[in-house]
Amino acid sequence: MLEVRAIYPGSFDPITNGHVDIIQRGLRVFDRILVAVLENPKKSPLFTTKERVSMIQEIFAREEKVEVQAFDGLLVDFARARKTPVVIRGLRAISDFEYEFQMALMNRNLAPDIETFFMMPNVNYSFLSSNMVREVAALGGSVEGFVPELVVRRLRDKIQGSKKVQNS
Ligand code: PNS
Repeated sequence: MLEVRAIYPGSFDPITNGHVDIIQRGLRVFDRILVAVLENPKKSPLFTTKERVSMIQEIFAREEKVEVQAFDGLLVDFARARKTPVVIRGLRAISDFEYEFQMALMNRNLAPDIETFFMMPNVNYSFLSSNMVREVAALGGSVEGFVPELVVRRLRDKIQGSKKVQNS
């Protein structure tokens, strides 16, 4: 039988429980999910591409239907190169819609053979973003329950590390 593969692209700086929820939901619909981590030096991410990829790999270590890879350039080129005709994007709230709509239609113009699927995360995560997680963690707040345990620890290490550099 033909395997239906989907690509789930994002910055994942860091991956949150909202992203994990979308991947788990996606696995109910698609046979394999390729999580595509954007290499984006312009955004100066908190975690390096390698760190972001390895966190997601560790979280899904036991899920053989999930693969993680970094990409740069156009998403549709990467999706085509990996023979993955479906793009999954999460929609948390109406405020996400305009950007996502523009991106999906731009991608359709660039590659009419690639289809975007929108999925809604559990409502508990509808306010959650990697941005907010980074900010709360940097200011000493708790992000337990918002990101996987492994990410809580990596955030702590990263923030303590950057404080040591500042104080030295
Ligand atoms: O998690 P994010 O930052 O909202 O993800 C955005 C992402 C990575 C999906 C988007 O920026 C992207 O696809 N970038 C690759 C460049 C590209 O293909 N641009 C054209 C479509 S707008």
